[in-house]
Order: sequence, then structure tokens, then C-alpha cells
Amino acid sequence: MSVSRTVLLGTVLAAGGAAAQDASGDAATGRALAAAHGCTACHVIPGLRGLGSHVGPSLAGIGGGRYIAGVLPNTPENLVRWLRDPPAVAPGTAMPALGLDEATARHIAAFLATLR
Ligand code: HEC
Repeated sequence: MSVSRTVLLGTVLAAGGAAAQDASGDAATGRALAAAHGCTACHVIPGLRGLGSHVGPSLAGIGGGRYIAGVLPNTPENLVRWLRDPPAVAPGTAMPALGLDEATARHIAAFLATLR
């Protein structure tokens, strides 16, 4: 009983710690990668020159948003998950998987988190 309670508490603390971490990417690198990967073809992104396209929503304020694409709580890990494979998160979404690797997605997520 006391052993399982200790294990449970440890699990809860570990989960809380993970949620508090950032996505361990670098925002400045992510900004450059977002430009390089053509995000502005579909999104207005503050600080990046783009086409003014509104295929996707403006990413202004995304760092302070509560949900990603309306379905996923906006945490750093979920943002990475979304960026790597949007249709896996929201089947039928108009945002395609762009083939981002894990490191690229982490840097871009760190950049997006700065958009308040
Ligand atoms: C082909 C167009 C297209 C491209 C390219 C694209 N997106 Fe999207 N994106 C969308 C659409 C459409 C949505 C809305 C998805 C939905 O709600 O189902 C979206 C949604 C998002 C969201 C969630 C926005 C919100 O308000 O919840 C984020 C974050 C995002 N995109 C980031 C990016 C990043 C970063 C890139 C570049 C790596 C990128 N997108 C490239 C079309 C695109």
C-alpha cells in the first residue's frame, strides 16, 4: 500500500516535471527554420516576412494559446507532436505533415512559444 502510493506519487511528480520543461529547442534557430520550411506560405507569423497568406490561422499569440488546432492542449511536447504530423493529431486537417525531424520541430516549437 505505502509502496504503491510512493510509486504513484513519483509518477505524478515526474509527469509534472516533464510538463514544466520547455521543448528544449532554440527559439532563434527555430525562427530561421520556420522561414526555411515555408510556414509563411500558409501562416502569418509575426517577425517573419511572408505572403500574407491565410490558408492557416495567424500564429500571432500561439505561445499563449490554450489549444493547438482546437484539439490538443498547447504544451511544448504537443506542439512538437503537431508540427511533426498534424494529420495524426487532427485527421482531415488542411495542414500537411512537412517531414520535420524531431530536432527541427523542437526548435520551431521553441520559437512559436515566444509568440505571445
Ligand atoms: C499548406 C499550408 C500549411 C503549411 C505549409 C503550414 N501550415 Fe500550419 N496550419 C495550416 C492549417 C490549414 C492549419 C489549421 C489546422 C486545423 O485547425 O486543423 C494550421 C495550423 C497550425 C498550427 C495551430 C494553430 C492554432 O491556432 O491552433 C500551428 C502551430 C502551425 N500550423 C504551425 C505551422 C508551422 C510552424 C509550419 C511550418 C513548419 C506550418 N504550420 C506550415 C496550414 C499550413
